[in-house]
Amino acid sequence: MSRHSVLITRMIPEKAVAYLKEQCDVEVNPHDRPLTKDELLASAKGRHAVMTMLTDPVNAELMDAVGPQCKIIANYAVGFNNMDIAAATERGIFLSNTPDVLTDATADMAWALMLAVARRVAEGDKVTRAGQFVGWSPLYMLGPEVSGKTLGIVGAGRIGQATAKRAIGFNMKVVYTANSPKPDFEKATGAAYLPLDDLLRTADFISLHVPLTPKTKYLISEREFGIMKKTAILVNTARGPVVDEKALAKALQTGQIWGAGLDVYEREPIVEDALLGLHNAVLAPHLGSATFETRENMGFMAANNILKALGGEVPPQCLNPEAAGKR
Ligand code: GLV
Ligand code: GLV
Repeated sequence: MSRHSVLITRMIPEKAVAYLKEQCDVEVNPHDRPLTKDELLASAKGRHAVMTMLTDPVNAELMDAVGPQCKIIANYAVGFNNMDIAAATERGIFLSNTPDVLTDATADMAWALMLAVARRVAEGDKVTRAGQFVGWSPLYMLGPEVSGKTLGIVGAGRIGQATAKRAIGFNMKVVYTANSPKPDFEKATGAAYLPLDDLLRTADFISLHVPLTPKTKYLISEREFGIMKKTAILVNTARGPVVDEKALAKALQTGQIWGAGLDVYEREPIVEDALLGLHNAVLAPHLGSATFETRENMGFMAANNILKALGGEVPPQCLNPEAAGKR
């Protein structure tokens, strides 16, 4: 039997590519950038499987360009808001994502941002490099204490729960909102369930961990900033459009909240102009899963989903097992 043909739309860690190459013919996008739409449609054509990035629109047009021999499109990401699940199911194409392997890395990033904003790490670094550090001073660059405060977790899935667990070491009180209360999580962390508005009123740190769906778009907008504490710090490691970026910039400018740490943006890689000049925003370039270990593990997981689907099985991290009935 001839080997299956697989496209990977960006360079990923070499070991994961090598793993896939043991069994398949693999082509990797040679450019250090996303493929343009035309390049993606052309290079995906005729493949049995495609490994896509969160920057690739995985829609009906792509699926039709790949062709009916395609068994799976495996996202190299936990988020799958770039994928049209209904279109894939209709065509009998499996979709998969990479949960679990990036949970700790992303929770660490949420903490990096919380600490950086509260303790003014990025702002201080800039001042120091500019030669403006003139010596220790009792009232210089103060920020809110992190330990002992209340952390609000919006979306207590895998990453939200991992972020909450880290708060135990900071003696923080944890409140959370989710589609339904989670007793095991409450037992493990002492977290208390609150409706979103009550969480926003109560929390000193608010960390977003919901997937992007039509229901979570602009979940945090002008009204929500209006009910947060003036001392609140908002952190977003989920997806940019969960926050209304213009409303956020205004809330930061007017002192409606104290600070924000962002890893994701509404129109990536474009960042709202008004945010760029704000000293109380820490802006990271979508690095949530960006550790050596995690990016390699994401590669193995996506590769394994591809191999399983090519072998005629439902892949382990399948987003639409119902596609099996459509083949
Ligand atoms: C990163 O944002 C991911 O969804 O994996
Ligand atoms: C600070 O550096 C202190 O010693 O209190």
